[in-house]
Amino acid sequence: MTIIVTGGAGFIGSNFIYFELKNHLEDRVVCLDKLTYAGNLSTLEEALKNPNFAFYKVDICDRAAVYEIFEKERPDAVVNFAAESHVDRSIEDPEIFLRTNILGTQVMMDASLKYGVKRYHQVSTDEVYGDLPLDRPDLFFTEETPIHTSSPYSASKASADLLVGAYQRTFGLPATISRCSNNYGPYHFPEKLIPLMIANALSDKPLPVYGKGENVRDWLYVEDHCSAIDLILRRGTVGEIYNVGGHNEMRNIDIVKLICRKLGKPESLITFVTDRKGHDMRYAIDPAKINRELGWLPKTKFADGLEKTIEWYLTHREWWETIISGEYRNYYEKMYGGREEL
Ligand code: NAD
Ligand code: TYD
Repeated sequence: MTIIVTGGAGFIGSNFIYFELKNHLEDRVVCLDKLTYAGNLSTLEEALKNPNFAFYKVDICDRAAVYEIFEKERPDAVVNFAAESHVDRSIEDPEIFLRTNILGTQVMMDASLKYGVKRYHQVSTDEVYGDLPLDRPDLFFTEETPIHTSSPYSASKASADLLVGAYQRTFGLPATISRCSNNYGPYHFPEKLIPLMIANALSDKPLPVYGKGENVRDWLYVEDHCSAIDLILRRGTVGEIYNVGGHNEMRNIDIVKLICRKLGKPESLITFVTDRKGHDMRYAIDPAKINRELGWLPKTKFADGLEKTIEWYLTHREWWETIISGEYRNYYEKMYGGREEL
């Protein structure tokens, strides 16, 4: 089959493209990506050599351009990763989040209906559930947990999810949704916690931990997320939502200390800075449904995944050094220059 993957020049989308090209030799993968600051064509260098892969630089909000690609490629399935994905940026400037994450999703669904796509998958996030209190470790997000968003980013993703549900019920779009916890691994943009701390530590720069670093995230190695999406796409039930997570909760401060230890860097690099506005305390996924219905289980333990990730950043310095030497510098100055040391 032909699968359209949007946002495939970003972190998870690119990992998914490599997963599909490796595990489904019979399929054709077509990537649509606007190449925003977060998209990097060099990430797809190997894929571009594969005759089963095609790339189009396009904004998913550009209806005419998207329809033209669907007309030409006649996809069987669509996986929509394309999004503005960074919470801190959404707090600075929400508008582009609403445009890409909501209106872009609408265009992709309209195109899927118009061209008779057999399966549309929306890549969502556990952040649509809001957060859980730190003193209730017994609580987890299930697919029935009410939507309760905190940031413009999570609100835009939740809005898209609601639209997907509406398109499925009203127009019969054969859609599924996955809501995954925090990913880590190769090609993770260095503005996010784990790659930012690795890159800063390697340059002996301060490691900016928001607030007290007590916030908890549920970390999943990116390849495990890709295998979950692949299963949902091929065997999931239309109209269903699947939570994806590996029961791997960690406090931010413990992750940063672990990175220091693994890289042989002093913990004195850690700097506590002004907290994120509206900062979610804890995310924790209950993945029982996808495990029960599709037999999915994560394969990578956090210690191994972090080891592999650090190794990747050590052996792919050019990839992230190019990023942090460009426009990212202005971003970093704007985002962290104003954060007071606590
Ligand atoms: P990312 O920011 O690394 O990549 C996003 C990609 O989308 C980039 O290649 C960018 O160029 C592209 N893009 C942005 N706007 C576009 C537009 N208008 N048209 C076409 N392409 C556009 O993001 P990511 O971390 O890989 O996240 C991918 C998806 O997974 C997102 O939908 C995100 O909400 C979701 N998600 C991410 C995580 C995580 O931990 N990173 C966890 C759960 C869900
Ligand atoms: P992030 O990687 O931005 O993912 P998300 O906000 O989507 O969970 O952040 C993960 C956690 O790390 C979050 O609690 C915020 C925190 N954090 C810091 O303490 N310092 C930083 O410089 C960044 C980027 C994040």
